[in-house]
Amino acid sequence: MPVFFQQQINEHTRLGVWKIEETEAFFQGNVPQHREVTHPHKRLQHLAGRFLLQFLFPDFPYGLIQIADTKKPFLPNEQYHFSISHCGDYAAAIVSRHQRVGIDVEIPVEKVLRIQDKFLTQEERQIFNIQYSLDSTKMATLLWSSKEAVFKWYGDGGVDFRNHIHLSNQQADIETIDCVFSKNNSSLAIHYRQFDGLVLAWVVSG
Ligand SMILES: CC(C)(COP(=O)(O)OP(=O)(O)OC[C@H]1O[C@@H](n2cnc3c(N)ncnc32)[C@H](O)[C@@H]1OP(=O)(O)O)[C@@H](O)C(=O)NCCC(=O)NCCS
Repeated sequence: MPVFFQQQINEHTRLGVWKIEETEAFFQGNVPQHREVTHPHKRLQHLAGRFLLQFLFPDFPYGLIQIADTKKPFLPNEQYHFSISHCGDYAAAIVSRHQRVGIDVEIPVEKVLRIQDKFLTQEERQIFNIQYSLDSTKMATLLWSSKEAVFKWYGDGGVDFRNHIHLSNQQADIETIDCVFSKNNSSLAIHYRQFDGLVLAWVVSG
C-alpha cells in the first residue's frame, strides 16, 4: 500500500504521505512534470508529489499550476492552496480549498545537529532541551521540519529561520508546537508526526 499516512484535517483540507514504490512509468502520463529535473530519483519525487495533489482532490487542476519566482508552485485562481515536500522514498502533500498550507517531511540525520545554530536560537535549544534529549537528532530534525513547513506556508521567501520563526511550547500529547512568525505577525500551531525514521510537520492557517 503506497499511502503511508493520510489525514482529513478539516472539511476543506487533506494531507497525504506516499511511500514511493513505483517506477517513473507509473506517474508519467498521469502527472505533469513542472520543472526540469535531471536526477532520476529527484524526478520521481517531483512526480510523486504532483500525483498526491489529485490523489487528495481528484479535481485538482494540474494544468493551471504556475511557479512563482520564489519557486513556490501555486494556482493563480486559488481554487486550492497546496504544499509539497519529498525526502528519500517519501513524498508528502497538503491541499486545502480555503486555507494557506505548508508541509515538510524529513529523514532524521545527525548532520542536523552540526547546523542547529544556523536555524535555532539559544533560547529554542534550551526550551526543547536538544542537548540532553534522548534522541537529539530526532528533536532537531523536528524543529528544522517545523520551520521548513512555516517557510513554505508563507511562500514569499526572504525568511530568516532564526530571527523570523520562533518555536516554543511543544505539546507532545496533541503533537503540536507553537510558533510566532514575526514577518507577518502570525501565531501558528505546527502539527507534527514522528514515525520510525521519518518526521512530518505541517501548518494550516489563514
Ligand atoms: C526551497 C525549499 C522549500 C526546497 O526544499 P527541498 O530541500 O527541496 O525540500 P522539499 O522536498 O521539502 O520541498 C520541495 C518542494 O517545495 C516546494 N517549494 C519550492 N520552493 C518553495 C517556496 N519558496 N515556498 C513554498 N514551497 C516551495 C515545491 O513544491 C518543491 O517541490 P516540487 O518542485 O517538486 O514541486 C527549501 O529547502 C528552502 O529553501 N528552505 C529555506 C532554507 C533557508 O532559508 N534556510 C535558512 C536557515 S538555515
